[in-house]
Amino acid sequence: MLETAVTNKLKIRYPIFQAPMAGGPTTPELVAAVSNAGGLGNLGAGYLAPEQLRTAIQEIRKQTDRPFGVNLFVPEEPTESEETITRMTDFLNFYREELGIPKNPLIQTSSESFEEQVQVLLDEKVPVCSFTFGIPPQDVIRAIKQNGTVVIGTATTVEEAKRWEAAGADAVVAQGSEAGGHRGTFLKSVSQSLIGTMALVPQVADHVSIPVIASGGIMDGRGLVASLVLGASAVQMGTAFLACPESGAHAAYKQKILLETEDATGITSAYSGKAARGIQTAFMNDMEHYTGDIPGYPIQNAMTRDIRHAAAKANNPEYMSLWAGQGLRLASDRTAAKIVEQTMKQARTEVKRIALHGMNDD
Ligand SMILES: Cc1cc2nc3c(=O)[nH]c(=O)nc-3n(C[C@H](O)[C@H](O)[C@H](O)COP(=O)(O)O)c2cc1C
Repeated sequence: MLETAVTNKLKIRYPIFQAPMAGGPTTPELVAAVSNAGGLGNLGAGYLAPEQLRTAIQEIRKQTDRPFGVNLFVPEEPTESEETITRMTDFLNFYREELGIPKNPLIQTSSESFEEQVQVLLDEKVPVCSFTFGIPPQDVIRAIKQNGTVVIGTATTVEEAKRWEAAGADAVVAQGSEAGGHRGTFLKSVSQSLIGTMALVPQVADHVSIPVIASGGIMDGRGLVASLVLGASAVQMGTAFLACPESGAHAAYKQKILLETEDATGITSAYSGKAARGIQTAFMNDMEHYTGDIPGYPIQNAMTRDIRHAAAKANNPEYMSLWAGQGLRLASDRTAAKIVEQTMKQARTEVKRIALHGMNDD
C-alpha cells in the first residue's frame, strides 16, 4: 500500500493509473487487470458509441469490483473549406491506391455524441470520469459529481490546471510533453504548451490545491518516486501498458513499442488533425511535405480512418498511427498486474536506496 491524496479519494491501493487509450488498447481486460492489481484501470472511450461504451463498462464490472475510470473527449466542432478537404482527399488517394481500397470514400465526420456518452456514465455510475481536449460545460461536471463520480481533468500547462480546478475537478492529470497520444492542450497553441513532465508537475502542484497526477514518460518505479517527489499524488502511465498481453493494440504496433527507442517519436497532426506523439512512420514523414492545410480534428481523423484500418489489416505499421511516449526503451510485454507490481517494488527499492545513501547536510 502507498497512501496519497489520490489513493485515499479513489480507494485504491497504489497511486498508479493505466492511462485511458482510445482506439483499442484499453480493453476491458486491461482496465480490470490494472484495477485488480491495486491501480486504477481507465477505459479510453472517446471513440466509442454509447452502446459500445455501456457494454465495455459492464464487461469491466464482470471482471473487477474495484474502482476504474472512463475517459471522454470534450468535443470540438471545426469547419473546413471544401478546398482543403478536396486537396486532402486527393493526397490520401495515393495511399488508398497503394492499399487497394476505394478512392474518394464517403467520410462520416460526425463524432460520437458526447451528451449520449455522458448519459451512459451517469446511468452506469462509473467511479471515476476523466476528460481530455477541454473542459465540459458546467452542468455536465455538476451532474457527474452529484452522481458520486470523481471528475479528473487533463492539463498541459499551469493555466489549464487552474481552469480545471475552478471548474470543479477533483484532481488533474498534468500531461508532460513526453506523453504518447494526443495532447490535451486546450488554451494556447500546442507548441506553446509542450512542457516536460519534470518542469510541469511541480509548477502545477504549486498552483492548484487539488491532487495532481503526473503523466508523460513515466514507465517504472523510478518515474513513480520522482513524480511523488515533484508533488504528484499518482502517476498515469500509457506506453508502459501498450505492449502487455491484455492490451488491444495491434501486434505490429506492440512489436514497434518493444523495439523502438527514445528518439523514435515525433508530434504530428497528420493522422487526426490534432497534435499527438507517436512513433515516426512513412505517413508522418510524407505529411511533413504536404503543402496544403490539414483539416482539424475530428475531420482529418475521419478522413484517414479507412487508410489506418486497411494498413492494420495488411500488417503495415507505416500507415498506422503508433501513438507512444518517449519512454520507449523501458516498455515491456509483461502482464498488466506484473507491471503494477514491479513498479511498486522498484519504487520501494528506490526510496530505500536514496535513504541509505543518506541526505545528510554534512
Ligand atoms: C495509444 C495512446 C492513446 C491515448 N489515448 C488517450 C485518450 O483516449 N484519452 C486521454 O486522456 N489520453 C490518452 N492518451 C494519453 C495518456 O493519457 C497519457 O497522457 C500518456 O500515455 C502518458 O505518456 P506515456 O505514454 O509516456 O506514459 C493516450 C496515449 C497513448 C499512448
